Amino acid sequence: MASFFRSWLGSAPRIARSAPTSSTTLPLPTDSEDDGNRAETEADNDAPPAFPAADSAQRASATTTKKTKRSKIALAPGHSPLDWANLKASGEDLRGVECLMRIPPSVLKRHNKRDDAWSAFHGKVYNITHYIAFHPGGEKELLRVAGRDGTKLFTSTHAWVNADAMLEPCLVGFLVPEP
Ligand code: HEM
Repeated sequence: MASFFRSWLGSAPRIARSAPTSSTTLPLPTDSEDDGNRAETEADNDAPPAFPAADSAQRASATTTKKTKRSKIALAPGHSPLDWANLKASGEDLRGVECLMRIPPSVLKRHNKRDDAWSAFHGKVYNITHYIAFHPGGEKELLRVAGRDGTKLFTSTHAWVNADAMLEPCLVGFLVPEP
């Protein structure tokens, strides 16, 4: 009887990867083995899959050789983010206006100088004059949006920056369409 099984198992399609030596050691097929085609190393390897996957777009962009330009500048002494936080908390008038206003683009446009700069971000108009020297991206970059709506440039540069919190005491009003 045992020899019959041995000869039968020898010619049957193999469902276990290691050939059984006797009928008592024949392993039962499990869910993970039922296709019978996977390599031993694949089934036993507990290492997590590569992430991002080798062919993912995420990996492709991370390994790109294109250099991204960083234009962070050295701030003058006394103009660190902490200094700006202190100035904000000092109670000094950073708005330069008595009350919040409705500001059309034509009015915004008048405040386009280094010593009188307003800019709109997400519908809110800020007097950025005092902040200019504190801007980590440099005065030149920030002055590009003086007297106009800077939302697009702002979000394309650093959408993660919370301008509302940083410029709260500089708020002068809200951008409205021309009357
Ligand atoms: C008043 C509104 C703005 C505020 C409060 C602000 C604030 C900041 C802050 C906090 C950083 C440092 C970001 C970081 O380290 O991750 C930064 C960097 C920078 N900002 Fe602004 N920003 C303003 C407007 C703008 C605008 C309108 C431009 C472009 C015209 C600009 C261009 C840059 C650049 C080029 C950097 C350096 C980015 C880098 O790390 O490579 N910023 N800004």
